[in-house]
Amino acid sequence: MFRGIREQIQTVFKHDPAAKSGLEVLLCYPGVHAIFLHRVAHRFYRTRRFVLARLISHISRLLTGIEIHPGARIGRRFFIDHGMGVVIGETAVIGDDVLLYQGVTLGGTGHGTERRHPTLRNHVVVGSGAKVLGNIELGEWVKVGAGSVVVKPVPAYSTVVGIPGRIVAVKGVAVSHDEWQMLEHGELPDPVGQTLANLNERLSLVESEIKVQDAPDPDFQSTFPTG
Ligand SMILES: CC(C)(COP(=O)(O)OP(=O)(O)OC[C@H]1O[C@@H](n2cnc3c(N)ncnc32)[C@H](O)[C@@H]1OP(=O)(O)O)[C@@H](O)C(=O)NCCC(=O)NCCS
Repeated sequence: MFRGIREQIQTVFKHDPAAKSGLEVLLCYPGVHAIFLHRVAHRFYRTRRFVLARLISHISRLLTGIEIHPGARIGRRFFIDHGMGVVIGETAVIGDDVLLYQGVTLGGTGHGTERRHPTLRNHVVVGSGAKVLGNIELGEWVKVGAGSVVVKPVPAYSTVVGIPGRIVAVKGVAVSHDEWQMLEHGELPDPVGQTLANLNERLSLVESEIKVQDAPDPDFQSTFPTG
């Protein structure tokens, strides 16, 4: 338990330069209180004590303004900065090292009991006020811009912004509209591979020019007969 508390405090220091001390983090960070209370509520949910689980989650919401359904599955070193207005649905799945800002919704579409909320893989960051809706997956290291509305799956390492969310960068490299259309079909552009291919092409060109220059000149041979 103490390891978990220490890890949570370290997570806050990593993400919030305004944090001054461990005591301050423990006493004054609603995101931290909401996560601790969710861990307790989730245990009760898993043992089917649904009302107790929901009650803890409700008390947490009153205290912090953050609403996490006790059924949501959340990984380690999760942090909600500022917190107010965050809503996380029952079937949401969140990986390790995920960061959410205030006003984020990980919401459901449809009214069935099946999976209807998003999955966020490790290291995802969701900016303030963004909505991620439906049973979609955001791959590892995805960044969602503040105020965006994301309703389709997003491949790993992408930055997605706007309403509806569109991919504007992959691994920090801007992508054009055409490349973004390709991404919709699950094909990630590979800027490093593309650069290597370009270099290879230019190298072949230079090599072929060198070969032409080095080739024996038949006229040169005839002016200097051997023997
Ligand atoms: C999405 C985000 C992570 C991108 O950061 P980045 O990788 O540095 O990318 P850039 O700032 O270079 O932006 C890339 C493009 O997306 C646009 N963009 C960035 N954020 C956007 C947003 N939230 N909504 C719409 N467009 C956005 C930029 O204008 C830029 O477009 P351009 O290439 O046409 O000029 C960042 O802008 C963001 O929204 N972070 C959330 C921060 C937050 O919520 N903080 C709360 C603190 S309390």
